[in-house]
Amino acid sequence: RGKRAFIAGVADDNGYGWAIAKSLAAAGAEIVVGTWVPALNIFESSLRRGKFDESRVLPDGSLMEITKVYPMDAVFDSPEDVPEDVKTNKRYSGASKWTVQELVESVKQDFGSIDILVHSLANGPEVTKPLLETSRYGYLAAISASSYSFISLLKHFVPIMNPGGSSISLTYIASERIIPGYGGGMSSAKAALESDTQVLAFEAGRKHKIRVNTISAGPLRSRAAKAIGFIDMMIDYSLANAPLQKELSAEEVGNTAAFLASPLASAITGAVVYVDNGLNAMGVGV
Ligand code: NAI
Repeated sequence: RGKRAFIAGVADDNGYGWAIAKSLAAAGAEIVVGTWVPALNIFESSLRRGKFDESRVLPDGSLMEITKVYPMDAVFDSPEDVPEDVKTNKRYSGASKWTVQELVESVKQDFGSIDILVHSLANGPEVTKPLLETSRYGYLAAISASSYSFISLLKHFVPIMNPGGSSISLTYIASERIIPGYGGGMSSAKAALESDTQVLAFEAGRKHKIRVNTISAGPLRSRAAKAIGFIDMMIDYSLANAPLQKELSAEEVGNTAAFLASPLASAITGAVVYVDNGLNAMGVGV
């Protein structure tokens, strides 16, 4: 049978999660997604109303099918973790079973197992603030939503992942080089995510034969990136300075994810794979 992929962090057709879903679908995988609770209604109704149909077209002309959309909030592991104000918030009260533990239980009930786990989500409430002006709350919130969320997803999914399975997250070079403007502890969150990729590759590899890799992606005009406020500048900078002078397409990241999830990458784990037109290799702007 074909492989089954769970992709966490798809809420429209502009981000990396959507592009990864398409590349995996084109390669024959069944697609199941997790959508942030507050974005769930708009995403599902847009899907139903055909708003994404144009971007659902696969290379063979067929439309990508999403077998199921699950509500999720990756900052909560189990119902006991959810504070009263979130529980009763009307953006949340309409959905149920959206903590990581409940989500994975539902996926297990519906499908039994998965082969591929993709983490394509991040959030930093103070991302527009320099690190020096970031509060403890903002810093920990960035780490919780953008780094621990991957540990939590992998930890809960691993028992229902088939051996030989693969997990992938998305990172950004601000983890290892200074990118002014990527603030609020988001640079720290990506550094944690990359370090965890190595440790988790060891642990999940030894215990479960699961591979763990992360893609360090170049700039894309996604919803999340527009919220940071400097995305057009980063795209222009890359165009001017990278070895390959072309705009990066989300599909190029999607195709790399499909490769990493496939048996073609069976010896690759614990890696940070750059998909950025080579910008990471430059020492100075030219
Ligand atoms: P996006 O807006 O398509 O994806 C981010 C998703 O995270 C959204 O769907 C949002 O609803 C979801 N999300 C936020 N908080 C959540 C939570 N608590 N629980 C569940 N879902 C939550 O934007 P994009 O840019 O495609 O982001 C995907 C990944 O790619 C992120 O890890 C991001 O840091 C990374 N990345 C993006 C780059 C860019 O230039 N756009 C560059 C390098 C990495």
